[in-house]
Amino acid sequence: MELHIVMDGSRDLAGQLYRQLSEAIRSGRLADGAQLPPTRLLAQQLGLSRKTVSQAYSRLSLDQLLVGKVGAGSYVQAPPAALPRPQTVQDLGSADMLRHWEELGKPLRKMKIASSRYEFVGGRSTPNHFPAEDWRRCVLHALRQEALARGRYSPPEGLPALRQAIAHHASFSRGVLCGAGEVVVTNGAQQALDLLGRTLLAPGSVVAMEEPGYPPARLIFSSHGADVCGVPVDEEGMRVDLIPASARLIYVTPAHQFPLGMPMSMARRAALLARARDIGAIVIEDDYDSSFRYQGRPTDSLQSMDRHGLVAFVGTFSKVLGPELRLGYIVLPPAIQSALLLVKRLSDWHTPTLNQHALAKFIEDGCLARHIRRCHAVYAARRARLQALFDSELAPWFKLVPATAGYHLAALCVRPLDMELLVRVAHRAEVGLYSLAPFYAEAPPLPGLFMGYGAIELLDIDIAIGRLREVLQQMA
Ligand SMILES: Cc1ncc(COP(=O)(O)O)c(C=O)c1O
Repeated sequence: MELHIVMDGSRDLAGQLYRQLSEAIRSGRLADGAQLPPTRLLAQQLGLSRKTVSQAYSRLSLDQLLVGKVGAGSYVQAPPAALPRPQTVQDLGSADMLRHWEELGKPLRKMKIASSRYEFVGGRSTPNHFPAEDWRRCVLHALRQEALARGRYSPPEGLPALRQAIAHHASFSRGVLCGAGEVVVTNGAQQALDLLGRTLLAPGSVVAMEEPGYPPARLIFSSHGADVCGVPVDEEGMRVDLIPASARLIYVTPAHQFPLGMPMSMARRAALLARARDIGAIVIEDDYDSSFRYQGRPTDSLQSMDRHGLVAFVGTFSKVLGPELRLGYIVLPPAIQSALLLVKRLSDWHTPTLNQHALAKFIEDGCLARHIRRCHAVYAARRARLQALFDSELAPWFKLVPATAGYHLAALCVRPLDMELLVRVAHRAEVGLYSLAPFYAEAPPLPGLFMGYGAIELLDIDIAIGRLREVLQQMA
């Protein structure tokens, strides 16, 4: 990076340089600890003699604004008063907006994760089974692809190879009806929901979502000014008859209701599509973790039943590969495609292409299908063990909600229990438990636990549930 220094005429050059650097340090423009260019380089850049630059540096050192480290260069040492005074919210014209964001973020702060030895946190995949070798090979391939097209922006909808690979994957594994042309690559499902919200909502628009539901989805839609209405769920999924007629957007998790886990029944799916059509609403199908299915007849996506172009199917690679990759996608209904692509273009232009190339190769080479098969076996074993323990050891306290997919289960209390106390005491026994309560935004929560099994090893499950049982006995 070049320093912005302007020399005026040819008089007192060392003094001019000294004053400008001193001012930059005192104002905080040159941060504490920043390295200044070597005297020879700065002299060259400014067309000065090296001696002039050395004189300026010496004066800064005398003022204790610069420290020289032998063999390592000269470093800024800002005086404490030079740090800019932080503005407080009240000082700013946008104070009301800042307070609005503060308020909006409150539910997220309630979803704290306190890391324990035996973790039942939700949504975290098994790190020990990450296909590191395959992924490394695909990233190397991606680096070679990048070298061929360096320095250019890429299309907002994503790279053709990845869109094609995703279309195959989604239609093969989830029965999604699509070609590459309907797929938009996003930075995770999170961005997919945000783009859909930005495209379809105006302040005051009504969004219907499941209650209990996925809090970040609620916050995203609220952040676009929408009025989010929680629609209760029963054992068949969202109570479609309670969706308000004014809803413009309906958000659902049909394969594995978040957080309770039951799949949406076929009758309810048909009713949901009919309702959406009647009121002219777009349905977001968040298919966040259904790559792992364990029992019953595989149910295709809701999108595959849609004959009227109303369902936006959202998928993510966070659950199968890892959330740090930030890779997800939307299969778009034709009517909203061009508007959403403009929104994506304005938001971040496109998802970084290195990851896109790598994922395209990963899917094309069959690594994704292989990885899902392997993880499926791992999760199925954990799930079976958890189910067995809940049905025996924990049966006096909990009953599991029947679920067919994903890698979390919900356990509802069958007798009164202080959930906050249980979570606290279990944490002391090194068992990370999570109450269902934070997933309820409007209705009184059903007392119960959200049991993720993506992060806990099979052999640890018995120990963890044994400890949980002891805690429950002590609480009785
Ligand atoms: C229901 C649901 N939807 C979406 C997401 C977000 O996934 P992503 O990491 O792709 O943004 C999650 C993450 O936990 C989730 O649980």
